[in-house]
Formats: sequence, C-alpha cells, structure tokens
Amino acid sequence: MYFKETKGFPKDFLWGSASAAYQVEGGWDADGKGVSNWDKFVRIPGKTFKATTGDKAVDHYHRYKEDVKLMAEMGLKTYRFSIAWTRIYPNGNGEVNEKGLEFYDNLINELLKYGIEPMVTVYHWDMPQALEDQYHGWESRKIVDDYVNYATTLFKRYGDRVKYWITMNEQNIFTGHGWLEGMHPPGKVDDMKTFYQVNHHANIAHAKSVIALKELHPEAKVGASFAYSPSYAYDRKPENAMAKADYDDLQNYYWMDAYAYGRYPRAAIQYLKSLGCVFEEGDEALMKKAASLIDFMGVNYYQTCVVEYNDINGVGSDHTMNNTGKKGTAKVQGVPGLYKKPQNEFLPTTDWDWTIDPMGIRMCCREITSRYDLPIVISENGLGAFDKLEDGQIHDPYRIDYLKRHIEELKKACDDGCRVLAYCTWSYTDLLSWLNGYQKRYGFVYIDREEDENSGTLNRYKKDSYYWYKKVIETNGEEL
Ligand code: BG6
Repeated sequence: MYFKETKGFPKDFLWGSASAAYQVEGGWDADGKGVSNWDKFVRIPGKTFKATTGDKAVDHYHRYKEDVKLMAEMGLKTYRFSIAWTRIYPNGNGEVNEKGLEFYDNLINELLKYGIEPMVTVYHWDMPQALEDQYHGWESRKIVDDYVNYATTLFKRYGDRVKYWITMNEQNIFTGHGWLEGMHPPGKVDDMKTFYQVNHHANIAHAKSVIALKELHPEAKVGASFAYSPSYAYDRKPENAMAKADYDDLQNYYWMDAYAYGRYPRAAIQYLKSLGCVFEEGDEALMKKAASLIDFMGVNYYQTCVVEYNDINGVGSDHTMNNTGKKGTAKVQGVPGLYKKPQNEFLPTTDWDWTIDPMGIRMCCREITSRYDLPIVISENGLGAFDKLEDGQIHDPYRIDYLKRHIEELKKACDDGCRVLAYCTWSYTDLLSWLNGYQKRYGFVYIDREEDENSGTLNRYKKDSYYWYKKVIETNGEEL
C-alpha cells in the first residue's frame, strides 16, 4: 500500500523494551529460589557458548532500581519482563516463596513509581527442574495444573497493578529447540511426536490461564508471544509455493491459529494425528474459549526466511546454529519431504547469520491483521551485535540503523490499518543470549561483563542507541 501521508503512531503507543528473568536477574539461588531446568542445562559441558550461565547474569536481581531509573530517564512507556517460576514456587508446585513474590512486587512498584507500564511474561523458558524430575515437565499433561496454579498466583498478587500479560514466550522456539534440535532443555532431538504433544500441553496451559485471568481481572489485556518468521517461497515453481504452504501451516499458523482461533490448521491436525498425538475431549472447547478472550497477538520479530521444496532424501537438521558470531558459519537446515531454508541472497545478515529484513515486520502485522484481525504487541525486535566500550562510550550506529528501519516499516503497518499497541525492543540492558554467551549484545545499556563469571564490574553505560531511542519516544516515532 502507498499513502501520501502517514498518520504516525497512535497517541498512546507503548514504546518499550524487554528482557527475561534468566537472562538478566542472576541471583540464581537467592532468597529461596529453586533450581530451574536452565540452571541445570547450562552446566552440561558443550551446551552454551564458553559454558556461560545465568548464575549472575547482569545482576538485575540486585540492581533493578538502577535499571528502572535508567528506563525512567529514557522515558520508556512499558517494560516487558518475565517472572522466574522458581522464585515463586521453588519446586514448581507446593509451597509458595514469599520472598520471590516480594521481589516482583518491588520491581512492579518501582516501574509504576516512574509511570512505566509493566508487561509481564508468565513463562520465558525457565521451568522448575523439580517438575522435570517429577514428571518430565511439559511432556506430561500434569504440568497444565501446575502452570495454571503458578500463573493464577501471579494474577492474584499483581493483577491490581499489571494490566498487560503474556502467557508464553515463543512456544515454537522452546519446544523446537527442546525436542527437535536438542539445543534447549531437555535436549532431545528429532522427537516430532513429543514435540507436538508438548505443544498441545502448552496450548492447554495457555488457554486455562487466559480463562483464569479474565475471571479474576476482566479488564486485563492478555496474549502469547510468538517468534514469527514470515516466509518467502524460493521462486515461482509450484513445489516451492507448496513448501511455503507446508511451512506456514506447521511453523506459523500451527501456533497462531491455536492462540487466535482455538484450533489447529486442518493440514496440521492430520499430520499430528498421523504421529499419534493425544487430544482430550473438551480441549477444543477450552482453546476456543481462550481464543475468544485474548486481546492481542504478541510478536517477536527478528527475521524472515526463504522456503524451498526439500525431497524426502533431502537435508535435515544437523542440530547446530551459529553461536560464535563468525559470520557465514550457519548451515542450511530442513525437514526432509517438506522444506529447507536457504539464505536469502537479497538480504544482509548479522554476524550470527540472522537475516535482516525490516519489511518483514510490516509483513507480520499485515498477515496477523488479515488472518486474525487482532491488535498486535511487538514484544521483541532487535539486533545482536558485538559492541565496544571505549572511554565510557559505546557507538552502535548499526543498532540505531536496524531499529530505525524496523520502526519505519512498523509505522507503515499502522498506516495500513494494523492495530499495533506496543513496540518492545530486545533488549533493555545487555544480557545473556542463551546459547551465545554475553558477547552477543542487544541492549541500549551496556553491561561491563564478559563470558567469565568473574569478569567486569557489571557497571551500566548508556550506548548511543539509548539517547536515540529516548528521542524516538519523545517524538512518538516522528524523529527517527
Ligand atoms: C528470542 C527470545 O528468541 O530471541 C529471547 O525470546 C532471545 O529470549 C532473543 O534472547 C534473541 O535470541 P538469541 O539467541 O540471540 O539470544
């Protein structure tokens, strides 16, 4: 679409930034916190870049006041953060840990003190290890009750102050990396049946918690955040268009249809049944009820992909990705019989081989708007890069350029009629990039630390992008 004039961003647009508990908090065993699956996984040799852990992370647990003050100075309108389940229920279920609840009380109150809207993610991948030990976590349907109990505890405690809730972060990524790629806990590979079964459990947990939230706080706004990579067919060959249809049904609509319509795409259902996945009576009704209650689609947008037909003897996944930042080391991965994903030669990539495609963010919004007609929260978007601290300054024009070009496209999406409520960059401070250590930096605020737990002062420094985003917020996206 082309419009002579831009309407710009809505008046009450939420300019934000995001983080996740395991990636920033540290204090991994502080004040009664239990052990999470990630606390355990990072200790398995070879799992993370240079054996980095979130034990100390960037010490947000002890420095949250300093971090929130920096947010306030920047004029941030919303801060998206996640809650560590193990701080609230150290064993996943059973006794609640008052100290853990207090930490998030304090964080929320601190944000509100400066007029920053808290946006809370209930689950950003750090599951209590006790639940893995009790019944293999997400593999068992038992997790639904424990998740809903945990989520309801949060809704009851914080629902008077928190309006925006995100039930799940990137269900597609934590399950894909956990049961197909072996790169996240529990580290299983190519277990397609369990992968879809686990997803069904997560969908039921999401659905029940949405219903519980709306019963307690009908005015709350809720959705799930999906890692959305729109696809382009490799070329105009029909088999590549069909490969794209397979990819979209199994990799995008499978999740988004579940959240927005409360059902799976028909083709996906056929596929799941052929694998032997189990659905219970009443599941569909439950999912449909939750779908009628959600207020937005959360989108974590980083990149688009190219999809090409891949025959049954074609390339599979070799369970690796570029975790070193050595550009050009990522390999083409695929699903035999369905599709493979070659690089897009028309687009540049980051040092970690992630495609940079600003127009893709507009594509996400357009697709969600025409398929689901739901408002959108961009819950993550950002550039992982090497940054250098020199004389107390960090010049990151590449990050400014990346964000600027994505925001320009987002503005066009608003002109197209997409109802975009918020834009959260990833991330606010530098943090632990799960598999890529601390050298892959995303923040507006530089943290003085490296891979080694004892390195650096953990002091905070404002990058050039910090000042730039401040201006973006001040002008409601007019000055980019
Ligand atoms: C998203 C996650 O997948 O992307 C974040 O929600 C993550 O937790 C971010 O950090 C960037 O990914 P990575 O692998 O570069 O840290």
